[in-house]
Amino acid sequence: MKVNEKGSQIREGKAKILFETLPHSSFIIQSFKDDATAFNAKKKGQIRNKGVINNAMSTLIFKHLEQNGVPTHFVEKLSDRDMLVHRVQIVPVEVVVRNRATGSITTRLGIQRGTVFEPPLVEYFYKSDALGDPLIGEGHILYFQWASESELREIFRLSLATNRLLKELFNRIEIDLIDFKLEFGRTEGRLIVADEFSPDVSRLWSKKTGESLDKDRFRQDLGRVEESYEEVFQRLERFFSERV
Ligand code: CDP
Repeated sequence: MKVNEKGSQIREGKAKILFETLPHSSFIIQSFKDDATAFNAKKKGQIRNKGVINNAMSTLIFKHLEQNGVPTHFVEKLSDRDMLVHRVQIVPVEVVVRNRATGSITTRLGIQRGTVFEPPLVEYFYKSDALGDPLIGEGHILYFQWASESELREIFRLSLATNRLLKELFNRIEIDLIDFKLEFGRTEGRLIVADEFSPDVSRLWSKKTGESLDKDRFRQDLGRVEESYEEVFQRLERFFSERV
C-alpha cells in the first residue's frame, strides 16, 4: 500500500470521514461527505456535491495560507473528495473569528446583526458534541490544559493572521468574510491549522446583494444552497487562475 491510499477508517464525523494511510504513518486522508448538519445536529440533510466543492475549496484556501506563512495540515488533494493531511493531535477548542456580528453572538449578547468588529473578535468554544460546543474563555483552556499559554498565544496569532489573509482574499472576489471557525492540531511540537475551510464553517456575504453564500442557506432553508457553494468556489478558482 502506498502512503496516499486509503486504509482502515479512523472515525466518521458529521461532514468528513478520516482514514488511515499506511499504519503508523504521519499522514491520514480526510474524505468530504455531502452530509450537512446544523443546530448541534438537530437538523440533518444533504447538500448535493458539497463534499467535492469543500475539498476543492479547502485545497485552494490551505495552499493560499501556506504560501502566506500560515502552516496547515494540508499535504495534497488526492481526488474529488479526498485530501491527504498531516496526522495531528486536535486541540479540543474551536476558534471563531468574527468581523461582523451574526448567528449566536447576536442573541447571546444582544448585538445587532451586521455590527462590525474592528479589531476582529476572537472567541473560543469547547469542542464537545455532547455539550453542544459551549463558549469558554482562556481561563478554561489553561485550567483544563487543552492548550498551554504559549500554544494559546500561537493559536490567537495564527487565527488573526488567517483572518487578515482570507478577508483580503474574499474582498478580491466581492465577498465579505463575516466569521469563520478554525481548528488547530499539534504535530512535531508545533501548531498548524487543521480541519477545513469552506462555507460549512464560515459566513460569506455577497458584497453586491448582501445575501449569504454559506451554510446559513441550509440552516434557514433559504434555497440555492448547492449553487451558492459552487458560486464561491468558482469565484475563488477564477481569481487564482487569473493570478498565475
Ligand atoms: O451557527 P451558530 O450561529 O450557532 O454559531 P456561531 O457561533 O455564530 O458561528 C460562528 C461561525 O463559526 C459560523 O461561520 C459557523 O458556521 C462556524 N461554526 C462552525 O463551523 N462549527 C461550529 N461548531 C460552530 C460554529
